[in-house]
Amino acid sequence: DKGEYRHFMLKEIHEQPRVIKATMEGRVTASRVLEQALGTDAENLLDHVRHVQIIACGTSYHAGLVARYWIEEVAGLPCSVEVASEFRYRKHVIQPDTLFLCISQSGETADTLAALRQAKQAGFRAALAICNVPGSSLVRESDLVIMTQAGPEIGVASTKAFTTQLTSLLIFTLALARHNGLSEEKESEIVQALHLVPGQVNDVLSLDGEIEELARGFMDKNHTLFLGRGSLYPVALEGALKLKEISYIHAEAYPAGELKHGPLALVDSEMPVVTVAPNNDLVEKLKSNLEEVRARGGELFVFADREAGVASEDSLHAMQLPPVHEITAPIVYTVPLQLLSYHVAVLKGTDVDQPRNLAKSVTVE
Ligand code: M6R
Repeated sequence: DKGEYRHFMLKEIHEQPRVIKATMEGRVTASRVLEQALGTDAENLLDHVRHVQIIACGTSYHAGLVARYWIEEVAGLPCSVEVASEFRYRKHVIQPDTLFLCISQSGETADTLAALRQAKQAGFRAALAICNVPGSSLVRESDLVIMTQAGPEIGVASTKAFTTQLTSLLIFTLALARHNGLSEEKESEIVQALHLVPGQVNDVLSLDGEIEELARGFMDKNHTLFLGRGSLYPVALEGALKLKEISYIHAEAYPAGELKHGPLALVDSEMPVVTVAPNNDLVEKLKSNLEEVRARGGELFVFADREAGVASEDSLHAMQLPPVHEITAPIVYTVPLQLLSYHVAVLKGTDVDQPRNLAKSVTVE
């Protein structure tokens, strides 16, 4: 039931504050992660993990790419991420002390399951599933499970599944980090930041009308470029995927630092450039990337921390977001990009919940 909403996608976008909270419930206190909530054997298993291999497809793969930043930054362990359909068809080396982590909303994605089954033969320490469907094949075949509490996701374009995957991945990262020297102080800082996320997502949702206005700038365009840096690069990838899936506008995402290495050649007034820019160490670098785009007549749409000092002018449309902790920024910054693609699709009159050629769950290869 869509309730008051015109589409399931919009309803699911608006459910995010609640489902992110539900995903934290019973897994974190005010300042700590409750490791036992990840499974009775979690403590013992996590103690031996020296490397994390993440496997997923589509949006879930993007969640994995964010998690890599977290795992290396917060837990200090090496992490590799690969799309399942690539992983399963190449010869791979899995260290015995690897945690094999599959991320899947449905838990029935054929390539992800095949990768897990193959890896089992190669041997690894343990398999962790981050999944939204209880009793799915992925859940049944894994040693540890973190269920995202997103509830059923009907829209083919994944929204609340993604942000609850990120929430789960951050909780997992903290549990793992504890075994690798994370101080109580740092853990508490990040957990407190996580508690602020539902409210921050709510703030972003209240920008809906403004984002709808921005969406008009995309209606008659054929190409767009999404830029991000650090853990916001996967958010740019996810933003581009959403836009192409439901509005059928060609969208590409690049780490902002790659601009000069090729994509800048494409930038002109017909190619809007969308950028996500929280207030971290990279924002100054990002600003110089933005100048490069403007110098070529490109129109910029910047979603930035209101303290980052990016103001609207001529060809720059700045959307001010609430200040967020650097670690939780990918969760919050995903939401305006979801709203943007939603409104572009509605303006274009496409079938938002059921985009052409796509299925909700890809159970064949
Ligand atoms: O169920 P899964 O998370 O394994 O699905 C993976 C992808 O098929 C899925 O995320 C797909 O990319 C979505 N349509 C993205 O919106």
